[in-house]
Amino acid sequence: MGSQCVPASRAEQAACLVSHDTFPYTSIMSNPRTIALLNQKGGVGKTTSTVNLGAAIAQLDKRVCLIDLDPQAHLTLHLGLDPDALDNPGQCSVYDLLVDDEITAADALTPARENLFVIGAEVDLAGAETELAAHPDRQRILRRKFASVADRFDVVLIDCPPSLGLLTLNALSLAREVIVPMQAHFLALQGVSKLLETVGLVGRSVNPEICVSGIVLCMHEGQTTLAREIVADLETFFEQAQQQEVPWRNCRVLKPAVRRNIKLAEAPSFGQTIFDYEPWCPGANDYRKLAQQVLGMNTPAEGAASHTVDERVPEIVTISTPEGTPGTILGSTTPTEVTGRASEESDSKHGASHVSKTSNHGDS
Ligand SMILES: Nc1ncnc2c1ncn2[C@@H]1O[C@H](COP(=O)(O)OP(=O)(O)O)[C@@H](O)[C@H]1O
Ligand SMILES: [Mg+2]
Repeated sequence: MGSQCVPASRAEQAACLVSHDTFPYTSIMSNPRTIALLNQKGGVGKTTSTVNLGAAIAQLDKRVCLIDLDPQAHLTLHLGLDPDALDNPGQCSVYDLLVDDEITAADALTPARENLFVIGAEVDLAGAETELAAHPDRQRILRRKFASVADRFDVVLIDCPPSLGLLTLNALSLAREVIVPMQAHFLALQGVSKLLETVGLVGRSVNPEICVSGIVLCMHEGQTTLAREIVADLETFFEQAQQQEVPWRNCRVLKPAVRRNIKLAEAPSFGQTIFDYEPWCPGANDYRKLAQQVLGMNTPAEGAASHTVDERVPEIVTISTPEGTPGTILGSTTPTEVTGRASEESDSKHGASHVSKTSNHGDS
């Protein structure tokens, strides 16, 4: 039971037993903004956006924490930190935080710039999914541990790995919002449709409050017809979603799109953010404006959750979608397997898709 849960009467005790999973979550989420940058595809701009959006927000006098949940440790390297050094005595990484009960989030925080802290990754993180497989609370360790430092920050950005395993589930348990970095081409649209389905599934299992709040277009080439058409498709899709009870109903395509800019690709090799490296290049200007838009967005309303956590649903979920229509965002054609729990059916009216369950726990 969460430490904040101190019931006064028997009735409250009973209520607390039922809701023990959501109670501490709500108290964490009232402050700060917690945003997972998620796309199961690699190379789309997740790390670049987490670092530079975070650095831009920190320059606006907000206290920012970046969490590197990718075993490749690109975010950690991008900030000029040595992932191997996080193995030294007295230093802790997100791996230590996840697997070692004794390590607190405060132990794992490393100052990176003014107003900017990082919980870094190192290569051991690749083993965390296996090591945590039998942990009863494995999907929520990060959320539980981060609670002790949450009030030190205004904004938390989590750089997710390009997969939908346990590390990503930990990110989605902690986050209140998801921002999807993507490139504007047709195949990326298919990826987004799967991602939205996944966020819906997680919304019904580990985190009832999660919502997709924005799409960041990365490496954008706005002069091409294809890019313009895809942006128009996305905008139409999210306009229609406003009428539906889905976790992406308030999602919008964030402005500006981040232009393809070689300076953004060069900065990581110097361990610098774009504001250290070339503060007035187009890439820096785009992330600066994007930071203002992210801060200006309405945060998800308190208590807006429309689903409750369902602990009875099974561990393995297969999402399958029917043949899609080319050019539409929900045209997913291949099944995706997601580690995690989900309710019995996705809402077929929102995506003409259905979810089938594969349980290895019988009727648990
Ligand atoms: N706007 C941009 N212009 C030019 N290169 C970019 C831009 N955004 C990202 N990159 C480069 O593209 C590659 C993939 O970006 P990255 O942020 O690492 O993606 P992900 O984290 O999704 O794998 C990196 O080499 C990065 O430097
Ligand atoms: Mg990355």
